[in-house]
Amino acid sequence: MKTVPLDIILLGPPGAGKGTQASTLVSGRGMVQLSTGDMLRTAVRDGTPTGLQAQAVMAAGELVSDEIVSGLIGEKLDSMAHSAGAIFDGYPRTRPQAIALDAILAQRGRALRHVIELTVDEDALVERITGRYSCAQCGEGYHDRFRQPRLAGTCERCGSTQFLRRPDDNEQAVRTRMAEYRAKTAPILPVYEARGLVSRVDGMAEIATVSAAIGAILDR
Ligand code: AP5
Repeated sequence: MKTVPLDIILLGPPGAGKGTQASTLVSGRGMVQLSTGDMLRTAVRDGTPTGLQAQAVMAAGELVSDEIVSGLIGEKLDSMAHSAGAIFDGYPRTRPQAIALDAILAQRGRALRHVIELTVDEDALVERITGRYSCAQCGEGYHDRFRQPRLAGTCERCGSTQFLRRPDDNEQAVRTRMAEYRAKTAPILPVYEARGLVSRVDGMAEIATVSAAIGAILDR
């Protein structure tokens, strides 16, 4: 008999901590993070046709087309082991994407088990996002104020001294990303609520406290 994978959505505005919490679930539980933002950034870096289409849209903080991101998710699910739980990070972001995800999962004998919303104070998010940077070599995430490398200027994971900031991590693009979240993503929550899938976690708590709260939901 096939084990039912633990497939979950992490939902929340830009900077809510979706990526941070997904990394913890990957290392702690062997789940697989499916971040459409990361997939699109890889496509931009590699100069693929998808990347060329997405680059300017992402830099402005607007949303890439539903067809492109749902296609990326389907491909990624097919490339991972069936039994591994998937963490959808930054997807779905619109109603058509939510409908597509149900179909993508059903076609593969999978179904959503939890939708976890990270609730946050939007004003604090601008500081979180504009202070964020990552290692240019291994991608480890840091923050000017909340998480600096133990040895200044040196990545704790791989020792690199090169770091990057995302082109959309400036205040103007962040405000657009938040407006997109309010207008297009928040309205999909009631659909999941009606299915009894939604749990809420205080995303303003310490990172470890947020992780513990998410762990308790998954262990229920
Ligand atoms: P994406 O990469 O998904 O960006 P996002 O949703 O804006 O989310 P972020 O990565 O900015 O934030 P996060 O919630 O992961 O927070 P993080 O953990 O890093 O999308 C980028 C773009 O791609 C979109 O704008 C769009 O153009 C396109 N795109 C992607 N998916 C799409 C889709 N499905 N459809 C259409 N277009 C799509 O945390 C942020 C910082 O805060 C970090 O420095 C972290 O260390 C810190 N932090 C985290 N938690 C805490 C805490 N509890 N306390 C203190 N600091 C914390």
